[in-house]
Amino acid sequence: MSRVRPIVERMHGYVPGEQPQGGRVVKLNTNENPYPPAPGVIAAARAAATDELRLYPEPSARPLREEAARVYGVRPEQVLAGNGSDELLTMLMRAIVGPDDIVVYPEPTYSLYDTLVTIQEGRALTIPFPADFTLPPALFAAEGRLMMVCNPNAPSGSLTPVAMIAELARAFDGVVVVDEAYVDFAPPGSTALPLLAAHDNVVVLRTFSKSFSLAGMRIGLLFGHADLLAEIAKVKDSYNLSRVAIAAGTAALAAVDWMERNVARIVATRGRLAAQLAGLGYDVLPSAANFVLARRAGQDQGPVQAALRDRGVLVRHFATERLRDALRISVGTEDDTDCLLAALARLSVARRTP
Ligand SMILES: Cc1ncc(COP(=O)(O)O)c(C=O)c1O
Repeated sequence: MSRVRPIVERMHGYVPGEQPQGGRVVKLNTNENPYPPAPGVIAAARAAATDELRLYPEPSARPLREEAARVYGVRPEQVLAGNGSDELLTMLMRAIVGPDDIVVYPEPTYSLYDTLVTIQEGRALTIPFPADFTLPPALFAAEGRLMMVCNPNAPSGSLTPVAMIAELARAFDGVVVVDEAYVDFAPPGSTALPLLAAHDNVVVLRTFSKSFSLAGMRIGLLFGHADLLAEIAKVKDSYNLSRVAIAAGTAALAAVDWMERNVARIVATRGRLAAQLAGLGYDVLPSAANFVLARRAGQDQGPVQAALRDRGVLVRHFATERLRDALRISVGTEDDTDCLLAALARLSVARRTP
């Protein structure tokens, strides 16, 4: 007899991208920021590592929520903090999705959604994106408890205009989660935050793991209507952010200009990476994120990912029908990009040489 719930016994756990500990690799597989967090962030994290660590942190991460409210123009009651945005996704699912409840999303998208729906014994209603990754029309007629819209979408990097998200919010009865993990890399005006004023069924999810260079600190924020967030907060762990994370996140928000400088560098490198990948024969979807999806139609890129890995360059490959012929490549430093392109070019030559 199994000691776990049948659904847990049957499911596959989510498999995160490889995280090598030590050794020199060019790490372009999990969309981290290649540049460090602001000096004030590191100083704040160090300053929080005192004797006071014996005491629990403020349960709701109030200093971080207050700073976020100031920066994003909302009230602190409209902000919930999580131990990474993944934890906030878990909280959303735990609070909203029961057995057989429907969760709707276009696919391919962030595959953790599948795992979380399964854990809740909910039902995923997935609607395929068309080839150009515009929102599928069937999404506007879908019914369910929860809808996930990753914008910019992972792993495509494609961007849906906010006006379309507003239309979805009007059409859908349940809660619409706009996962904006990558929105800081998109053009200004791409965020759905302004929709919160008129749509009490919209929540916006942000992470500090990408633009703010804090993947190792585990900080996410959820913005939404105060009443809805109060309900979701009921399922959170009591002290979900550490004292160090609260201090680091608050300092990061006080240094938004530092983040924006790094984003500008990454966006510039993204343009060069896309152009040079195209030169190597890849079809590259226009990306509004800190990664690109590079495809060679009909050619499995699994062996290319493995060969790059042997050369110390990590990129992501998804062995699904829709994504098998593509690589998802994070935008690194200029040097990282040179290493990747040189390794890919050598592989192409090797492939052509009998
Ligand atoms: C679309 C999307 N949402 C959420 C996350 C989770 O981010 P974190 O838990 O680091 O905040 C990721 C991480 O890669 C992501 O790609």
